[in-house]
Amino acid sequence: MLSRPLGRTGLEVSEIGFGAASFWGHPAFPESEALGLVHRAVDLGVTLFDTGPAYSRGQAEARLGRALAGRDASGLVVATKAGTRFEGGRVRRDMSLDAIEASLELSRRRLGLETLPLVHLHGPSVQELVPDFLGGLERLRGRGLFQRLGVNSFDPAVIEAALALPEIDTVMVDINVLRPERVALAARAAAAGKGVLAGMPLAMGHTAPKSWRNLRLRDAWYLARALKNHRADRAAGRRFRFLHGRTDITGSQAALAWVLGVEGVSAAVVGTTRRDHLEDCAAASGRSLPPDLAGAIAEAQVLS
Ligand SMILES: NC(=O)c1ccc[n+]([C@@H]2O[C@H](COP(=O)([O-])OP(=O)(O)OC[C@H]3O[C@@H](n4cnc5c(N)ncnc54)[C@H](OP(=O)(O)O)[C@@H]3O)[C@@H](O)[C@H]2O)c1
Repeated sequence: MLSRPLGRTGLEVSEIGFGAASFWGHPAFPESEALGLVHRAVDLGVTLFDTGPAYSRGQAEARLGRALAGRDASGLVVATKAGTRFEGGRVRRDMSLDAIEASLELSRRRLGLETLPLVHLHGPSVQELVPDFLGGLERLRGRGLFQRLGVNSFDPAVIEAALALPEIDTVMVDINVLRPERVALAARAAAAGKGVLAGMPLAMGHTAPKSWRNLRLRDAWYLARALKNHRADRAAGRRFRFLHGRTDITGSQAALAWVLGVEGVSAAVVGTTRRDHLEDCAAASGRSLPPDLAGAIAEAQVLS
């Protein structure tokens, strides 16, 4: 597994990160399988783990903490979020400094970490990123609650605003073959010295053909999420079916090679509930995209 510098943070992260989120953290996904995936990821050289207090109905962060308990986490970059929590059956957003402080304290406890290596504000608005707020966050950083601060947003205006802020070290954006418009944004972020993490790098699996035979609960869960929230991506993904079914590279490796080829990207954070998928993704590190495939992706992106 290759590593890359994360902007100017002084951290290095594995090219493939592990997303401790979605069905992985869901109570319906067996704990032993979930923990086994984290341990396998560490064995494969993954050093970046991304989670959040609101992920998986509020269960993912504590599960990641249990997976890492008793292990030496000093070489790992464990990234979490602040500004959202799961409460009363839904995700609640609260970007107040008091709520963030409480959230950071809970995250430290759940993850079993003295200090949080990296925290992303989870979907702040441009209007919230004001000097008073950022000054308050710096005081929390000064107290050692966290080390590096990032912004996670899929709104380019928020990311653009973050690029001008010296307090912000990293940005986490959705970067995948369905989002060619992110290429310029990632390059600007890197030029501004920010570390860039690609979330949803497999376009949530929407490019892959689906077989409805042997459908498992996890597949039904991802399908329900796609039908509820991501119908447009599901439709757009069909134009990239050609990524799959080759003999020289798997579809997911091709999708990840494209993401890792975007200027400025430090790591692609994948979500998976399957060991063979994890191993497939890990093997994308260091792979380059076959030129004919790069051309076909560019063509499909123009048509999208
Ligand atoms: N989605 C968001 O809104 C969001 C927001 C902020 C941050 N993030 C971060 O980004 C991470 C990844 O996002 P994501 O999970 O939504 O999307 P993703 O990584 O783009 O795609 C995940 C989907 O791809 C499938 N998959 C994974 N590896 C595969 C392989 N080798 N072959 C075939 N299918 C494969 C997974 O199914 P299997 O379980 O069957 O492998 C799952 O359905 C999150 O865990 C989180 O850390 C996401």
